[in-house]
Amino acid sequence: MKKPLLIGPFTQLLPMTGLPIKGALKDEQLPIIENGGILIADGKILKVGVFDALKSADVDIHHIDGKHVCLPGFVDSHTHICFGGTRARDYAYRNAGKTYLEIAKAGGGIWDTVTQTRRASQDELVEGILSRSQKHLKNGITTIEVKSGYGLSVDEELKMLRAIKKANETSNMTLVPTCLAAHMKPKDWNQDKEYLEVIINELFPIIKTENLAHRVDAFVEESAFSPEEIKPYFQKAKEMGFDITVHADQFTTGGSQVAVDFDAVSADHLEASTEKEIQLLAKSNTIATALPGASLGLGCAYTPARKILDAGGALSIASDHNPGSAPMGDLLTQASILGTFEKLSNTEVLSGITFRAAAALRLTDCGKLEAGAQADFVIFPTDNYQEITYHQGQLKPIEVWKNAAPSTKNLNHD
Ligand code: NIG
Ligand code: FE
Repeated sequence: MKKPLLIGPFTQLLPMTGLPIKGALKDEQLPIIENGGILIADGKILKVGVFDALKSADVDIHHIDGKHVCLPGFVDSHTHICFGGTRARDYAYRNAGKTYLEIAKAGGGIWDTVTQTRRASQDELVEGILSRSQKHLKNGITTIEVKSGYGLSVDEELKMLRAIKKANETSNMTLVPTCLAAHMKPKDWNQDKEYLEVIINELFPIIKTENLAHRVDAFVEESAFSPEEIKPYFQKAKEMGFDITVHADQFTTGGSQVAVDFDAVSADHLEASTEKEIQLLAKSNTIATALPGASLGLGCAYTPARKILDAGGALSIASDHNPGSAPMGDLLTQASILGTFEKLSNTEVLSGITFRAAAALRLTDCGKLEAGAQADFVIFPTDNYQEITYHQGQLKPIEVWKNAAPSTKNLNHD
């Protein structure tokens, strides 16, 4: 029989355990195991502790030479990496002073990607997801959420969700699919029935039958769906057992109230949230997700992460990787920059891309290094965890382990 594998020693091992899901966190609270090791078998973690104490004749050893910091594999809880085409034009429009709505009117915006995604075959979408997710894996992300939302018809949303499912079966990463059929009102809708009525009655049952997603999202915004319009969609999704997540308060408020009313797992964006919305979220079970990649992409305000944490809220940080508002797709860089602007502790930033992000996806077996969790972890070539955020994404992991296998090696670090 294969022996369990002991990996280490790590100068610092950050298990990200024993920390609360909600509220501000100080670096003094961050548990650090010095000269730590991880014992794994069958894709799972058996034990985490001091390397020498885990050594025995019954284990094989994968020795890590030199000084290293090990953390749980990162979790990106909000992306749109299933898409066709590009939106490079939007960047130029934005910098020429055009607003979000003006860009949409000029042929850019979400509808432009819908058109380009509809033109792509399912296999082309699978390829796109796989190549983007491999880039994320190299940067330490081992679990990634992927939304539909560029199909905006029953068939085209199904094409996207089937592509995400296929990519998940092929990929060595964990892909968490989300149905975002309510991303905007399709401009070409020409049926007598309401678009959302068709989505509810025709798309949701197929998603269930084919097990394509267990999460449903909507863009609650003046340019997309109002709080009133979206209610039947979320009501039905909830009745059918889907988890709810909301694109909320990006430009105008209203979405976070919907999220809390539906006991959503997360409310994402929140750049426009005021004290009222911050208090509302902080008192709820809904995780607030900051998307600094969208703030950087659009040149907009950051999510008030400091205020959310100080009010007692839970904060996840995600990349929002998409072709329009957030084409960069570099979670660690963006989370570190959010930390700088919002005055977040290292522990708050790292929690936002590990266990708090896992909670935003209702996952309990990742984002932490503890017995029973998936053997997903990331190894940085430094002896001090503070170097990771300090370098704002430029310190790359030397190894990323996914399901107990070293899936990537970056050798191009200083
Ligand atoms: O999360 N805000 C709405 N949806 C995306 C943008 C998608 C796009 O521009 O293509 C977001 O930022
Ligand atoms: Fe988004």
